[in-house]
Amino acid sequence: MALVPRKKKRKDPALSLDGEAPVGVVKFSEVGIFLVERKMGSSRRSFLTELARKKGFRVEEQMSESVTHVVSENNAGHEVLELLEKQSGICRTEFTAALVDITWFSESMGAGKPLELENRHLLQVKRAAAGTIVVPVSPYACQRRTTLDNKNRLLTDALKILAENAELSANEGRYLAFTRASSVLKSLPYNVTKMDDLKEIPNLGDHSRKVIKEILEDGTCSEVQNLIQSESFQTRKQFTTIFGVGVKTADKWFREGLRTLDELRSSKIKLSKEQEAGLLYYEDLIKPVTKAEADLIRQIVEATVHRFRPAAVVTLTGGFRRGKEYGHDVDFLITHREEGKEEGLISQVISSLTAQKEMVNNVEPSRPCSNGSLAENEPRGIRLTSHAGTTQHITTAAAKEKDWKAVRVDLVVAPFGQYAYALLGWTGSRLFERDLRRYAKHFKHMSLSSHSLFDKKQNKFLPAATEEEIFAHLGLDYIPPQERHA
Ligand code: UTP
Ligand code: MN
Repeated sequence: MALVPRKKKRKDPALSLDGEAPVGVVKFSEVGIFLVERKMGSSRRSFLTELARKKGFRVEEQMSESVTHVVSENNAGHEVLELLEKQSGICRTEFTAALVDITWFSESMGAGKPLELENRHLLQVKRAAAGTIVVPVSPYACQRRTTLDNKNRLLTDALKILAENAELSANEGRYLAFTRASSVLKSLPYNVTKMDDLKEIPNLGDHSRKVIKEILEDGTCSEVQNLIQSESFQTRKQFTTIFGVGVKTADKWFREGLRTLDELRSSKIKLSKEQEAGLLYYEDLIKPVTKAEADLIRQIVEATVHRFRPAAVVTLTGGFRRGKEYGHDVDFLITHREEGKEEGLISQVISSLTAQKEMVNNVEPSRPCSNGSLAENEPRGIRLTSHAGTTQHITTAAAKEKDWKAVRVDLVVAPFGQYAYALLGWTGSRLFERDLRRYAKHFKHMSLSSHSLFDKKQNKFLPAATEEEIFAHLGLDYIPPQERHA
């Protein structure tokens, strides 16, 4: 619906400015509007610009990074993207503003404030080749459903190597670019077979596209192959797989000439307590933890927690809550319905687990993974030990004659009032969490953490008892844990 008759330039009395902000004062700085002139015409665009500014909206003449809403009239999503690409040089793959229809603009003017985006406001992006309307893929991982059914593993594995290498080189920008590219491919419900399949897909920069193209054409990417074979990549990557070793330390050791774990063990390098434990249990910790092991550890943790607080609740979080069969650790969130009763619990639990030396000999047989290595190394029992580390990480060691298995366990305790935020924050994936926070900041002017959600416009914290309520506060469709494998 058009806001004003197209020809009419005279001010509409219904749009009286009485009682509104003085002309030019921006009331809603978090929202940046760009009006697309195509099909709207320059005079109507000027009129709408003036109107919005009088109402305290920020309207940009040029497309820029501060634009959050691209408003157009009678254009399809792909037409707007093409236009912006041509006019402003903005690559569609890096596009993060919302593409909205004039209805959002009209309704916001009517309401005198920027309205929250609803699906009906968003422009559909039409796939030129197939001629079918597809739901646009969001550049935000928290608006995509990503299951474990990855249809593009060859591509995502290659991009993951490039992301890992960027991370090892402390290049955060490149790490994020490759991680986002890999993540968006994971969310696609189809197997990509040609570059045309990726026409409207966001988050794919030039470098990622080059890698994908090479793999689609040759089955492999030379840059990735070179990395996999490079001593620097292999060594630094192995060092960071030691518990307690980050990229800086790995890089330092590599530059000091260390190449293997044995060289590290026999060197005079001073290790932290965590690194000592990491090296001691290295062979075990590098093996994936199975769901069966996670369930057994859950029983042990729960029993220990209940000894101190019978009514406390222990929830499995991290990858296992998302439905993964294997993980690099086991994550738990502990809370108590009576706020305050969770205080002091973590140290009691850790001391108790440290003191427990009894064997638990009822580990269910783990399912063999595809290469069968887990079946061969299946533990028969679990014994809990600990290393003197932080209060939040303990190492439990699954013991068996000759073949011990150490497992990393992360314990997090949250007051009941923060439980939903902690649950959402510790369920992951890492990129899903990152994009939830980015979305909250950019679109809602809110600050999300594992403790709370703060609404900067209302200047208050928003309480939530469930994850669903948090998604609702953010105006996002609820995504269940099984679809957060971004
Ligand atoms: P994990 O690193 O354990 O990831 O952190 P994961 O998804 O369970 O993967 P695997 O299976 O163990 O390899 C679990 C979640 O906890 C949050 C992140 O959101 C992550 O996805 N987390 C973890 C933090 O917020 N901070 C941290 O320091 C670590
Ligand atoms: Mn985990």
